[in-house]
Amino acid sequence: MNLVTPQAYAREIAAQAVPGLPAGFRWGVATAAYQIEGAAAEDGRTPSIWDTYCRVPGMVVRGENGDVACDHYHRMPEDVSLIADLGVDTYRFSLAWPRVQPGGRGPANAKGLDFYKRLVDELEAKGVTPWVTLYHWDLPQELEDAGGWPVRDTAYRFAEYAALAYDALGDRVKHWTTLNEPWCSAMLGYAYGNQAPGRQNFGEAIHAVHHLLLGHGLASQYLREQAAARGNELELGLTLNLGTATPETGSHEDAEACRRADGLGARIYLDPVVKGAYPEDIVTDLAAQGIELPVQDGDLAVIATPLDVLGVNFYRGSLFSGVTEDGAATDAEGLPVTRQVERDLPRTAMDWEITPTALTDLLVRLENDYGLPTVITENGAAFDDTVAEDGGIHDADRTTYLADHIAAVAAARDRGADVRGYFAWSLMDNFEWSYGYDKRFGIVRVDYDTQVRTLKDSAKWYRDTIRLTREA
Ligand code: NOJ
Repeated sequence: MNLVTPQAYAREIAAQAVPGLPAGFRWGVATAAYQIEGAAAEDGRTPSIWDTYCRVPGMVVRGENGDVACDHYHRMPEDVSLIADLGVDTYRFSLAWPRVQPGGRGPANAKGLDFYKRLVDELEAKGVTPWVTLYHWDLPQELEDAGGWPVRDTAYRFAEYAALAYDALGDRVKHWTTLNEPWCSAMLGYAYGNQAPGRQNFGEAIHAVHHLLLGHGLASQYLREQAAARGNELELGLTLNLGTATPETGSHEDAEACRRADGLGARIYLDPVVKGAYPEDIVTDLAAQGIELPVQDGDLAVIATPLDVLGVNFYRGSLFSGVTEDGAATDAEGLPVTRQVERDLPRTAMDWEITPTALTDLLVRLENDYGLPTVITENGAAFDDTVAEDGGIHDADRTTYLADHIAAVAAARDRGADVRGYFAWSLMDNFEWSYGYDKRFGIVRVDYDTQVRTLKDSAKWYRDTIRLTREA
């Protein structure tokens, strides 16, 4: 794509995107508590599994952690001004469980809640709608010590925490997301071990899946009941990281690999939440490995508590093969092969393939298979930004990424998908989990030495695109 100036390009893209994007389309930016707040030991906050994991040598690049991060805890009003100046209508952020309920049990911590009340005050004063995520991966360490998500009690603890949060903020916050990307919490946290708490046991990860979903359902029930009782407006959602699984060839093995990838990546969450049942093929696959989802009577009805919106975090679509590079259909353990095939496509600094049309395909598929309204709760890209001599960050690669994905959303709407909003990940550079501070997803640059925030060209482009789209 040939970028003349970001502003000219914004006009061009806005002109393309507007027919698919109605006036009420929701524009936002997103963050998560541990990635930006810092103040890890202040005002009663206790350690989460990420504070612990960051201290295990070798787990996070350069041994970095979220102790200071973007120091948002101390710079919140300034950051809200930045958000308002971008012209977005919505700010998606998460509450830190160990700040709201230190240790994961017992009463709420007034000082922790106070921070989020002040954040909501600032947002309201600037006309920006708050969109709260209850769990963006910071499980209180005490609950991990008691067994973590593979243990059923954690679901009840989550519901209790959700109640404390809703009791404090429910009268003022309408948009609530229970969990962010439970696939990451379960699989990266408990099967692959490359995120906190860093365990490697597939069976435990499957138990974590069920307990995350149970926690989601219990919290959803409480929010629904309380909202009705108090006459609060509520838009309740769950955010999943979703992609597309495309077979490399027309072979039966490749089709099966896609079925498995989609089953464990998407349907194992979507089916129980929307349809009240786990996908039978995946239950059968798991049984063949001696693994059973720990479902108790009544759980599925709780998990299927009605949702208003499905949050979609989209970063890439993937190509799959059901055979090894040598052509074998089973791996060393005798399990069928599900192998992601690398393509010769442009990539981000995360080495993720850039696949905007997959976002259109995904949204149309979600509409057809599940029929829930969707919001893109995250989409964006890390690139190796440089600060130019003029002091600017001319991140045409990120602008192009955002523009192409917003156009993909408009294309999905044209094909009948009920997509209601788009939130850029992320408002500002932040702690990218195991990758530390090296990977910059922000549309605003953070200088970690000075904590100065600078709008990248992509942020100016996003601001212009939102304004032009609204005006069109
Ligand atoms: C999804 C996660 O929700 C977010 O925390 C993370 O920074 C982005 N993906 C980018 O990897």
